[in-house]
Parts: sequence; structure tokens; C-alpha cells
Amino acid sequence: MESPSRGGVFSEGTDSRVEQFAESISFDRRLYQHDIRGSQAHARMLADQGLITDAECESICGALDEIRLELDNGTLPMRIELEDIHMHVEQALIDRLGDVGRKLHTARSRNDQVSTDFRMWVREALRETDQLLLELQRAFLGRCEADFDVILPAYTHLQRAQPVLAPHYWLAYVEKFQRDRERIADCIKRVNQCSLGVAAVAGTSLPIDRQQTAAALDFDGITRNSLDTSSDRDFVLESAFVLSVIATHLSGWAEEWILWSTVEYGFIKCPHAFCTGSSIMPQKVNPDVLELTRGKSARVMGNLQTLVLLTKGLPLAYNRDLQEDKPPLFDSFDTIQSCLQLAAPLVAGTELQRERIAAGIEDGYLDATTLMEHMIRAGMPQRRAHHLVGAIVGEAMQRRVSLSELPLDVLQQHAPELDGSVREVLGSRNAIEAFQSEGSTAPERVREQIQYWTTALGDK
Ligand code: ARG
Repeated sequence: MESPSRGGVFSEGTDSRVEQFAESISFDRRLYQHDIRGSQAHARMLADQGLITDAECESICGALDEIRLELDNGTLPMRIELEDIHMHVEQALIDRLGDVGRKLHTARSRNDQVSTDFRMWVREALRETDQLLLELQRAFLGRCEADFDVILPAYTHLQRAQPVLAPHYWLAYVEKFQRDRERIADCIKRVNQCSLGVAAVAGTSLPIDRQQTAAALDFDGITRNSLDTSSDRDFVLESAFVLSVIATHLSGWAEEWILWSTVEYGFIKCPHAFCTGSSIMPQKVNPDVLELTRGKSARVMGNLQTLVLLTKGLPLAYNRDLQEDKPPLFDSFDTIQSCLQLAAPLVAGTELQRERIAAGIEDGYLDATTLMEHMIRAGMPQRRAHHLVGAIVGEAMQRRVSLSELPLDVLQQHAPELDGSVREVLGSRNAIEAFQSEGSTAPERVREQIQYWTTALGDK
């Protein structure tokens, strides 16, 4: 059977190899619900404008409901010669209604149709992703009270830097995922503009009402320029970028926790339900979910690259290249959503190895900067204090002791200004207590942040 899109201008049928090459039904079938919803809104608008009768609109909408059911059940036969989901639905309609079915495509092109369908699909997928991010944020936040007293080493350059409260660490990820959610909200503003009615490229001479279909399909408004709209896939690129940033956050977190679960760090124990064993080494408990989260992030970043390259250098307006926009974006959403679905329970179920962490928390001179700041508070210029503390740390290293284990007279040999009050800032716990600034790891600041996020993220 010939596709309804091939009119009398063609002198021969499509080569079957071309049908195989050009089809998109194998992947754009995912758009069927949106395609049918869009067609029903379009039919109602055509009826309200007098372009079809109310009775024709009723038959079309009823038949589309039946076709949706067949697609739900998988009983609508897929025919490669029908190319894509739009032609499958339209042909099924024509098979049922004959000429009435042939009226649905009035004042519409597949170019505006596919853009509208995809925008609806993408906005939904973005909202689902936002919900999964919220659940992950709640998993991190949910740990903060129970882990409040745990001090972790914060790293820069992967070298021990300063002490932080564990909840400060957890909330760092809450912040990252919050920015991802803000990017999603911003992205949705541009995704959620309706393309329907721009037709192929220049609009239509028929009296359509674009505002009506946009409102019926829950869009925030309509796109302004038909030529731009026919060519525009910015909403696909933006979504792929937002997902790539989520992927960087997940991948960095996964890498960190893979390290933290090693014997060398020994900071965490992942739930065994989220680990796998080795077929040869009986002792192994491998953090495969974290590793695959890190690994799968590459796909998401690669998909962004694919889409940027796909769309660069396309002259206005629609080009068939654009059909290639769907597999990468579907894959990015699938990948990120599957990672997020596992990340939340993994975060909630992972145990901190408190004793091991505490046993090493005085290693690495995490309190050196606080000692320097103590000297600055007493009036010493920062550069001199920095230099002296460096020398004090050097001495402690030679003696293989922590700063708090150095006798006062040794400290005073380096910095005669020091007195017994220096003890108040030495050691990781004292260093934590000494912090003050907004956004710092000071216990009262962290309490404020937990409070802030508890209100912001609401109850489950
Ligand atoms: N399957 C096509 C796509 O995804 C639909 C639009 C086809 N338009 C056309 N003029 N051939 O882009």
C-alpha cells in the first residue's frame, strides 16, 4: 500500500530499501498518545472553524480513541511503508472513515505535527525527571539528621582540605540537583509553546485558530514564526543539555562513592542489594550500580553531541535530518531516569562507616586553615599566618602527630603570639565549631540549611 503522503506527482512506488532506510515508526511509535491527542484537538478546532462538520469531528475523535486503544494493546499493525507514527494513525483513520478521515490533515503538515507531538512528549518527560530529582534530593536530605554529628574530610584536588559535617556534604548534592530542576523549569517554558498550525513552513490560507489548539493541548502559548518553528529543535538541544548536566552530577557523585566504598577510603558501605559479586573472586562486593551510573552518563553526553551536530548547518526550515532527533533524546531521558530511579534508594540505604571515618579524621591536617584564621583573628597578617602554619604543619609531619598533639611551647617556637586559647580551634571537631560564615559547614549554618531544604522540598 502507498503512503497517503505520496500524491499523483509520483510516477513509481517507493523502493523498499528506501522504506527501510527512511522509516521512523520503530522509534517514534512512542509519540502515539500525543499524536492522537493533538489530532483530536486539531479536529475540534477544524469543526469550530467550519472546516469540517461537528458530526465529522465526532467520528474522527471517536475513531482516534479506538486507534489509541489498538496502539495501547499493540494490535495496530506496523507497516514500514507508512514511515512514521503520524502516517500510521492517519491511515488507520482513513481505513475506518474513508473521506472523513482524509479531512483530518486539513491545514496541517507532519512538520508542525511532529514538532507538536515531540514538545508534548518532552515536557512530560522533563516533569517526570523533575519528580525523580526531587526524590533524590529527599533521599540526601533524609540522611541529614541521623548523620549530623559525622565529620567528613572535604577534599580539593582529591587531597584532604578541611573538615565538614556529613549533612553539609549531602546538601551539596541537593544544591546541584536543585539547579538541575531550575534548568528543567526554565527549559519547559520554551518547550511548552505550540507549533501546531504553522503547517509545513509558511502557515496556511485556511482560517484556523492556533490559540484554541494550543489551549486544548495545555501549551502556554503558540510559537510566533512559522518558518522558525518548522526548523526549530532548540527545545530538543536544551533538554539534552539539561540531561547532560544531570549526568555530570550523577557521574561525579558515583565516582566519589565508588572511591568511598573502597578498602582504601572505607567511608561507606552500599546496600548489598545494589552491588554484585565476582564470578571468580569470592570476597568481592562491587558497586556496579554506581559504576554503570558513571558509565551511562557518557551516553547522555554523547547524545547531546549528536544533536548539536545534527542541527548545525541546516538551512531553514524543516529538513528530514530532523527525524534523527528522537533516538538520542529518548535515550537520554531513558538513561537519566533509570539512573535517578536507582540513585535515590542507593543514597537512602548506604551506611556511613562512622568508626573508620572517625579513626582517620585527624589525618591530613584538616584544622590547619582554622589555625591560620585563629592567628588572623588575633591580628596577624594573613600571609605571615599562612607561612607560620605551614611550618607548624611541617613540624607536626616530622613528629608524626596531629596539630592538637603538638605541645604549646613547640607551637610558640613558631608563633610566639599563640597562647592556650589555640586549643579551641585545633582538632576537626573544634575546627567545625569555629566556622561561622553563611554557606559554611558551621553546625548552626548547616542546621539552617537543613531547615531551609526541609521546607523547600516539602513532605513526601
Ligand atoms: N517522521 C518525520 C520526522 O520525524 C515526520 C515529518 C516528516 N515530514 C516530511 N515532510 N517528510 O521528522
